[in-house]
Amino acid sequence: MIDLSCTSKKALITGGGRGIGREIALRLAAAGCDVGVSDIDLASAESVAAEIKALGRESLALKADVSSAAEVAAMFGTFIAAFQKIDILVNNAGITRDTLLMRMKEVDWDLVLGVNLKSAFLCCREAARPMLRASAGKIINIASVVGINGNPGQANYSASKAGLIGLTKTLSKEFGSRGVTVNAVAPGFIQTAMTDKLSESDRAKYTQNVSLGRMGTPLDVANAVLFLASSLADYITGQVIVVDGGLVM
Ligand SMILES: NC(=O)c1ccc[n+]([C@@H]2O[C@H](COP(=O)([O-])OP(=O)(O)OC[C@H]3O[C@@H](n4cnc5c(N)ncnc54)[C@H](O)[C@@H]3O)[C@@H](O)[C@H]2O)c1
Repeated sequence: MIDLSCTSKKALITGGGRGIGREIALRLAAAGCDVGVSDIDLASAESVAAEIKALGRESLALKADVSSAAEVAAMFGTFIAAFQKIDILVNNAGITRDTLLMRMKEVDWDLVLGVNLKSAFLCCREAARPMLRASAGKIINIASVVGINGNPGQANYSASKAGLIGLTKTLSKEFGSRGVTVNAVAPGFIQTAMTDKLSESDRAKYTQNVSLGRMGTPLDVANAVLFLASSLADYITGQVIVVDGGLVM
């Protein structure tokens, strides 16, 4: 059996109440982690925490808007009080407010950059102290292929995801000598509530360009996160793993 060295590791997932974040939380729990499930929607976080407890691991539901420094600080305070340390941080919370640039409102630029990018800065800053003190830790940021390739109608979203990739590379250099790895996963077109919003014709258009001929599942993404969170990836940092079925090359 392959030892992923995840047993009893303490993991915090933002936006863990549904979709990709939920699947990451469950996958890490199945690999032996105790998991803090954070979401702006407490009821969804509580429901995932209950699923994790049913798997026999510890879990804690945390309500936080991750674009707020005060709420992120409180979330980490509660997490560390319960689990004493943090081994794995997954910055997954994200939103879209799509429209062409000419119609994009300042409020929607600020909102998307706040939830998708500032959140990761705030959470990494909170996680840095305990991880650097422990000389160990894994940070995984959920970016997107549109942060690499761009996408019409997603200036705010693609800028936030490109920013996450820059943050990932910089923090990998700041933290590397202290044994903390920082990587990103860039999903392509994944079946969740976020993509359920798209029209049938848009879905068909995107899927047509996927080499594997199907949308990805949250589990496809969660498997890459589990790999990066595990000891199998101990010598990998500053990287972006694309999980898109061959959409972007
Ligand atoms: N679905 C895709 O095709 C796709 C592709 C590439 C990247 N991603 C990224 O994957 C991540 C998860 O996406 P998803 O498809 O599961 O989306 P989703 O909308 O299904 O889930 C997002 C979760 O984040 C939570 N959230 C939203 N705003 C928040 C805030 N301010 N504070 C805390 N939590 C908040 C929501 O309540 C929800 O539980 C996002 O970062 C998204 O950008 C998704």
